[in-house]
Amino acid sequence: MSDVYSRAGDAADPPSLSPAYRSTVVRSPSRPLISIPQTLSEITGPVYGHSDVKPEEADLTTQHAGEPLGERIIVKGRLLDEAGRPIPHSLVEIWQCNAAGRYIHVVDQHPAPLDPNFTGAGRCVTDANGNYQFITIKPGAYPWGNHHNAWRPAHIHFSLLGPSFLTRLVTQMYFPGDPLFAFDPIFNSVSDAKARERMICRFDMDTTRPEWALGYVWDIVLRGPATTPLDDDHD
Ligand SMILES: [Fe+2]
Repeated sequence: MSDVYSRAGDAADPPSLSPAYRSTVVRSPSRPLISIPQTLSEITGPVYGHSDVKPEEADLTTQHAGEPLGERIIVKGRLLDEAGRPIPHSLVEIWQCNAAGRYIHVVDQHPAPLDPNFTGAGRCVTDANGNYQFITIKPGAYPWGNHHNAWRPAHIHFSLLGPSFLTRLVTQMYFPGDPLFAFDPIFNSVSDAKARERMICRFDMDTTRPEWALGYVWDIVLRGPATTPLDDDHD
């Protein structure tokens, strides 16, 4: 039973210590890891249904009295296992900054406006074919103080629960063609170029709705050779 959900061997994951990404210096383990056997409580997980997660929680543009400022987008894709099989009925959570690059968070005090019509958090449950979909606004770039003139590329944070607590993946989705990729130590802490590409969604005209919103598609693979890299810091 042990290690059925281990991510060890998913070479796409960034090392826990990436010195250019400053907070990893104090956060990464300094001693060898201790292996703990997996038990039933770890290899099972909660089951979410439509009574627990409401469809409107997947629309981040309708949580307040007015609409948020920014570019409305649709983000959708499939949650897959290492064999490309869909993972149905699984919780997908997202959080992001607003169009001006500001989070509603006490630590985020940089001089960009908050949007009273945007909280920046949503969730949904994958359907029988592993599909998820969110409506939101495109997040802005923001400064993060890691080094001189440090700016994060636009990104949306994702938490994927998968079939068990041990398959939970926390990562970030990026947008195609972002000029900040080359300068971002978090994005580049994933050393394999192909693995980095798996963190970038693709623009999709079929998902784009006329007169309303651009569409982006991003499939997420929880394990195996095509796994989506882990990217679990909150910056
Ligand atoms: Fe962020």
